[in-house]
Amino acid sequence: MTRRPLLVRTYAELNAASADLLRTAAAAHHAGHASLGLVPTMGALHRGHAALVRAAQEANDVVVVSIFVNPLQFGEAADLQRYPRNLEADLELLAECGADIAFAPSVDEVYPGGEPMVRISSGTLGAKFEGASRPGHFDGALTVVAKLLHYGLPPVPADYRAYFGQKDAQQLALVKRMAADLDFPVEIVGVPTVRDEDGLALSSRNRFLDADQRAAALVLYRSLSYLQQQANRHEPLDIKGALAMIASVPQVDLDYLEVVDPDSLEPLAFNCQDTPFTGEALALIAARVGDVRLIDNARLG
Ligand code: PAF
Repeated sequence: MTRRPLLVRTYAELNAASADLLRTAAAAHHAGHASLGLVPTMGALHRGHAALVRAAQEANDVVVVSIFVNPLQFGEAADLQRYPRNLEADLELLAECGADIAFAPSVDEVYPGGEPMVRISSGTLGAKFEGASRPGHFDGALTVVAKLLHYGLPPVPADYRAYFGQKDAQQLALVKRMAADLDFPVEIVGVPTVRDEDGLALSSRNRFLDADQRAAALVLYRSLSYLQQQANRHEPLDIKGALAMIASVPQVDLDYLEVVDPDSLEPLAFNCQDTPFTGEALALIAARVGDVRLIDNARLG
């Protein structure tokens, strides 16, 4: 049986609803201590988001999903306008995966004085890779994540976790650093990427690919898998071979393919191309297929 989440629009309503549910959960626990899992989203929910909500649901008594299309993280006004919004469909998906509260605030609720004068700076970690092609994007994303983490903070004593997809590896690394560097009282949990059967990582942008572009885009996953297999066998990584693989698909315009440290996203401290691969790394890839910019990544080691 599915149960639709309670829809709340304001911070005050969210606070009251989560306090209620947490008190009920705490009363049912012997130790009297409950937990809350927050899943920040921009809506247009798909199976990738469902995996985040399920992970939150398995580990917490109360699951809050925020749905807010954050103007601060969009470069062009047109992109913000075009971003898909379908609250009804989102609530149905949330009912299937067991969210308790859907928090869908208005722009005025989140930014009552207009755009904030002071924002979180994503620093050097936010300036490279995706940040290089989308200036200001991560400052805007971190600013809203900071606010959402404050809104979601349990109003009664409870453990607090927030869930983000590993698909957006740079965002996840930044949110983890923000929580650690600025002492946010929340555990940040990364959830593995969900893929279609052929390997394409789920993304709300996939809907803009036509059939040929979609087939071409699979080379991103193929090249990551190629490197992953070498890492698993502790062989040197053939990054040049992976690049050649991508270059052989004309519809795919590569932005970057880099193998980096999984936490700092800095270049690896060890040589991974001439000696057997033994450490841990993250392979990051971004490419344009037609008008659609796609990103993906794979853990190595
Ligand atoms: O990953 C997203 O959907 C957004 O960047 C987030 C984390 C909800 C902030 O707006």
